[in-house]
Amino acid sequence: MTKLLTAEQVARYRNDGFHFPVGVLSAAEARSYRNRLEEQERALGGPLSGNMRHKVHLLFTWANELARHPTILDAVEDVIGPDILCWSTTFFTKEARSPSFVSWHQDATYWGLSTDDVITAWVAFADAPVESGAMKFWPGSHLKKQIEHRDTFDMDNLLTRGQEIAVDVPAGEGVDVALKAGEMSLHHVLLAHGSGPNTTGDRRIGYAIRYIPPHVRQLKVRDSAMLVRGHDRHGNFDLEPGPRADLDAAALAAHRDAVERSAKALYAGTDRTQFRA
Ligand code: NI
Repeated sequence: MTKLLTAEQVARYRNDGFHFPVGVLSAAEARSYRNRLEEQERALGGPLSGNMRHKVHLLFTWANELARHPTILDAVEDVIGPDILCWSTTFFTKEARSPSFVSWHQDATYWGLSTDDVITAWVAFADAPVESGAMKFWPGSHLKKQIEHRDTFDMDNLLTRGQEIAVDVPAGEGVDVALKAGEMSLHHVLLAHGSGPNTTGDRRIGYAIRYIPPHVRQLKVRDSAMLVRGHDRHGNFDLEPGPRADLDAAALAAHRDAVERSAKALYAGTDRTQFRA
């Protein structure tokens, strides 16, 4: 028995490497999450950047609440099983009429995780039509296993290293992932995906939540993650505490510790120790 997805949708996920759209929030709920993010941005004087774009669920109660949203977890459980760790969260925001883009890449490339049993839930905080620089997926590319990548460190590229796959995606093979505010897409950690610039007059705001089953191991560093459903019988990750209040001292300390570990893993082999702006 599946919890949310149909058996056919799960089978298609295994075959294509993705599934969308899944309705998670009503339009009004999505608006209220967006408002909470934008209140923080106003207080901080700009969009979340650098280390603050990552592991956001350790900083803000609303981001933690969303990482534990039962609808998201039901869909994730249908793919990876009932024991679920939230490994990371990241905002991928493209301002109105901005050149920011994401090159074609596979998420798994620098993450250091031992298996490809890793799923991303990408939740739209605002409508994400194709023209806003919606994601594009290359169906079935997760079955090609790891493809070689090169680092570009392009400043308009939202990825940690500006990494891109060293092969061309055949023309016409990308599937546009247009989403309405409150919908999510799900994708496999080896699925090649990318996205173009935002040519619309509104922001495109995506909250990417990465989930793993507890048997997965981090091969590069002693890493941390948050148990969001079921049990952890493996102890491969130090378990992270959720924030009690937005940006309180305990939340900031837990976030600093967790992000230092991720930066070490993701930037291994480079001279970087912090996430880029
Ligand atoms: Ni990605």
